[in-house]
Amino acid sequence: MEFIRDYADWFYLIGAVLFILTLRGLSGPKTAIAGNRYGMIAMAIAVLTTFFVADHPVIWMILGAMILGAIVGIARARTVPMTQMPETVALMHSLVGLAAVLIAIAAIIHNNKLVELGPELLAANGVSFHEMSKVHLFELFVGCFVGAITFTASVFAYGKLAAKKWAKTISGGWVKPVQALIFIAMLGFGIHFFLSGSMTSFWAMTALALAFGWVWIAPVGGGDMPVVVSLLNSFSGWAAAGIGFTLENNMLIVAGSLVGSSGAILSYIMCKAMNRSIINVLFGGAMGGAAAPTAGAGEQVQRNYRSGSADDAGFLMSNADSVVIVPGYGMAQGRAQNAVKELANLLKEQGVTVRFAIHPVAGRMPGHMNVLLAEADVPYEDILEMDEINSDFPATDVVLVIGANDVVNPAAKDDPNSPIYGMPILEAHKARTIMVIKRSMATGYAGLDNDLFYNDKTMMVFGDAKKVVEDMTKAINGTGH
Ligand code: TAP
Repeated sequence: MEFIRDYADWFYLIGAVLFILTLRGLSGPKTAIAGNRYGMIAMAIAVLTTFFVADHPVIWMILGAMILGAIVGIARARTVPMTQMPETVALMHSLVGLAAVLIAIAAIIHNNKLVELGPELLAANGVSFHEMSKVHLFELFVGCFVGAITFTASVFAYGKLAAKKWAKTISGGWVKPVQALIFIAMLGFGIHFFLSGSMTSFWAMTALALAFGWVWIAPVGGGDMPVVVSLLNSFSGWAAAGIGFTLENNMLIVAGSLVGSSGAILSYIMCKAMNRSIINVLFGGAMGGAAAPTAGAGEQVQRNYRSGSADDAGFLMSNADSVVIVPGYGMAQGRAQNAVKELANLLKEQGVTVRFAIHPVAGRMPGHMNVLLAEADVPYEDILEMDEINSDFPATDVVLVIGANDVVNPAAKDDPNSPIYGMPILEAHKARTIMVIKRSMATGYAGLDNDLFYNDKTMMVFGDAKKVVEDMTKAINGTGH
């Protein structure tokens, strides 16, 4: 035990390096498992070292909490379906926020108790005591309010993603003034606590921060929740880093900062791929749903499109040299990934080059398509990111769009008046033939019509993604090359 105490900083350093390697590993599907393992080892080192360096630890309490947490964590990890991952992650962030608040409260109550006992009594009992410095108060103030906002905002994000009745989106002219009022009052009480150490102000600040987390996130639309969850991931990291200062624990400061910055980077990447700013996501109200037709108000324009059967599509694909599959939200919705993999395998057997093109915000959560294709065991080398595949579309015989809409909408390139103008897209419209599987001519998440569907080179194949893909496979099996 003495050994661990003496070399605690070294253990923390090893843990910090392993956490960095974790993030590096998690940046690609091939290295993700190794990344996860580094993370587990780093976390074990961090927890064990902290256990041994702590002053007078209450062993039964710590072990009790760890065992209970492990039971709940393992049970949840074993049972959670992939589709419920975003809300589970949101729930986990809420716990980080809650922990930050509780630690801040415990640190302040502990400090106040020591002040009450008085320096003489403490000295007589061998307890060294220093008055809390202003820096310390500031860390507590920041750690506590960021933690409180993270807690309630994450609980709301969880409720929204899990479609709970109590997580109602709020809207109206009153929302922004109320948000501003609560935020200013929260800062006011926080500053007063910082200057005077007043406990009343501390409690008021904490309560207002909890309220702010809720009213801040409640107006955000359900579809934008993944960006919010990633932002809250970042917040939970900063709250943990703040508490690391309070507890004078370097490991927590490093790990918190890594989580804080990686969450912030991911939020930025998602916003960029959606062509929106983080401010617009957080304060622009709910996006999507409302159709924005290309025709003027009241004007109904009938546009022509071509549709075909799964058999026709199967025939065309089996006679192509190269096929690129573009999956989108509809593939997830229709749980079509396994059927898609079978179709791809069959085409490959017939000598067709088949690849998958992934847009960074296809679906509804980061890596949504990658996760589904990995689940179906599609080889990683067949899956290409947008930047890798875009230049190949003009030389591609057939693009098969499966339940994707916004991520292949050419308006993002051609129509300066489109709300998604400037958003990077998969340039499927440049291929020789385009086939689109969806159930109707309905719009996607952004509520926009899509010129790709009316393109002369496009054939719509209507139906549920899984059923249509299975029918295509049957058709190819029946006809052969
Ligand atoms: P969308 O634009 O949402 O289009 C999905 C299409 O799938 C719909 O047009 C729908 O048409 C079709 N569909 C739904 N269920 C289907 C089923 N069972 N079978 C066949 N088709 C089905 O999807 P996308 O192209 O993947 O784009 C994602 C959008 O979500 C982007 O606007 C993005 O900005 C946004 N977003 C993404 C994220 C992340 S991180 N991925 C987060 C928030 C928002 P029908 O109804 O006619 O079938």
